[in-house]
Amino acid sequence: MRKKLVAGNWKMNKTYQDSKKLIKSIGNNLDEDTLSKIDVVICPPFTSLSRARKLTNKSKINIGAQNMYYENDGAYTGEISASMLKALGCKYVILGHSERRQYFSETDFTINLKLKKAIENELISIVCVGESLEQRENKIQNQIVKEQLTNCLTAIDRKDFNKIVIAYEPVWAIGTGKTATPEQANQMHIFIRETIEKLYNQDVSANIKILYGGSVNENNSQELFNQSDIDGGLIGGASLKPESFVKIILSAIN
Ligand code: 13P
Repeated sequence: MRKKLVAGNWKMNKTYQDSKKLIKSIGNNLDEDTLSKIDVVICPPFTSLSRARKLTNKSKINIGAQNMYYENDGAYTGEISASMLKALGCKYVILGHSERRQYFSETDFTINLKLKKAIENELISIVCVGESLEQRENKIQNQIVKEQLTNCLTAIDRKDFNKIVIAYEPVWAIGTGKTATPEQANQMHIFIRETIEKLYNQDVSANIKILYGGSVNENNSQELFNQSDIDGGLIGGASLKPESFVKIILSAIN
């Protein structure tokens, strides 16, 4: 059985100072027993990663970054490498978030390069896919997601799938309060699993975790997580509110 995973993507929120309070209130409300049943990941901005790592050192809460670059090192002003994240104690990295695609010109091609580098550095990548509103209205969401998956996973070996998580985040549901219905989301998750089965095999597709993201909150999380192929969530806004984030985590194990 796939263990559920809930990750909080803080996006560009919280200073180094603010992050302490938030991490502590999340950590204080999650006991060992809960954390043995579910994988919890916190993804603050780069500036708070080391503080987050220190504050969670003794617990099973994992730390992830929201992005990285695909070169090892060198003259790439403003970028952060996979080995830098690894050295800081990050276990996860989010790759190809739709906001990175939209505002920072990320493409499936660069996401694929990043994924290869993350694997090389033994980071677990949360690879984001998802269609826009226009694409859904034109009923081409499956085609879009299939294309994103095929391109992002190009030349990735099946043995490395224990270091890959997929996050389905329909762009029209991100930060809009408009969640995909549990059935809509599950349908896409099933389609993602089928696509991965065709690209690899049944074993890979049955074991890969597929998260849903887009306006998940404490009121809708349980129904989403109860779906057959939804293995947890990538949470934006609600991960900045400790009570909501903890409730979302607990709803995944109930
Ligand atoms: P919201 O939960 O704020 O809609 O954001 C989702 C998201 O983009 C997580 O990566």
